[in-house]
Amino acid sequence: MKFKILEILKAQERQPLSGEKISQKLGVSRMAVWKHIKTLKKEGYNILTIGKKGYVLEEITDKLLPHELAANLKTDWLGHNIIYHDSVSSTNDVAKLEAQNGAVHGTVVVAEEQLKGKGRIQRGWYSPKGEGLWMTVVLRPEWLPQEAAKCTLLAAVMLHRVFTKLYGVSVGIKWPNDIFINGKKLVGILTEMNAQMDGINYIVIGMGINVNLNKQQLPEELEDIAISLNDVLDRKVSRLELFAEICKQFEIGYAEVNSKGFAQILDEWRKYSITLNKPVTVKGIKESYEGRAVDIDADGALIVESDGELKTVLAGDVSIRMRK
Ligand code: BTN
Repeated sequence: MKFKILEILKAQERQPLSGEKISQKLGVSRMAVWKHIKTLKKEGYNILTIGKKGYVLEEITDKLLPHELAANLKTDWLGHNIIYHDSVSSTNDVAKLEAQNGAVHGTVVVAEEQLKGKGRIQRGWYSPKGEGLWMTVVLRPEWLPQEAAKCTLLAAVMLHRVFTKLYGVSVGIKWPNDIFINGKKLVGILTEMNAQMDGINYIVIGMGINVNLNKQQLPEELEDIAISLNDVLDRKVSRLELFAEICKQFEIGYAEVNSKGFAQILDEWRKYSITLNKPVTVKGIKESYEGRAVDIDADGALIVESDGELKTVLAGDVSIRMRK
């Protein structure tokens, strides 16, 4: 019922409509209308009461309200369960908790802001309110635990497809999880997993996309390394549209991997990589060394040639060295 009221108010295009008229249209009491309007307001819709004229729905902003996200979705399963928070510690942490409690394959957690957004290697992730798409997808793939790294590469390739399709921009992928444009970071991806030796319970894939970051408020340490879509395109970007396309491409990519294997995704990853064929410094858990990134293997590990030896990098920090 509340969504019917919402649709009626949307169709009014900011012309007020009285509670009585709404109640007549829907065949319910004015009290019921009032209660639903109260709920909608609580959920984040900006509905004003204009004296006796009635209710006005202020323009739907780009809030990530589940009903608005769902209205744009064109998927069979991904994003059909959306968990929305205005403010949250980390969408990955919420997603893990939800997965632990049985959240279905394809659940997506989104938040307007993260107070403790997490990056890789114990780093933080700057996640101001309303300025980015901070989202985590819960998957329950029938894969082996050692295949989980593929999710990060899959996400990066899917995001490349999304940015090309929606905005006509070609981004670069830095191993394993960064999306770069103009030499600065646009997206970070953090994959976490809960598994047993022989199978995965769930994987959460967190994506932090800088969409409409306010440059003036950017922390100093990020000024030279972070970039946002609104900077690249010189306009505000719809997070609702972006969310819908990510879910769609992700669903397509996931089906591709399950039906045809990972080779096509790996090829695309190689094509858009900004790490391959570059001199790199690897800071691993056990050792640090310099070398040249030569390939990624079928499981998504980076192959680095160092002192004539091929080394496999599964985790750690890989930075690209500038040529002198
Ligand atoms: C990185 O580049 O180090 C990864 C950053 C990942 C950030 C995203 S934002 C949504 C999700 N929730 C988190 O706490 N982290 C990921």
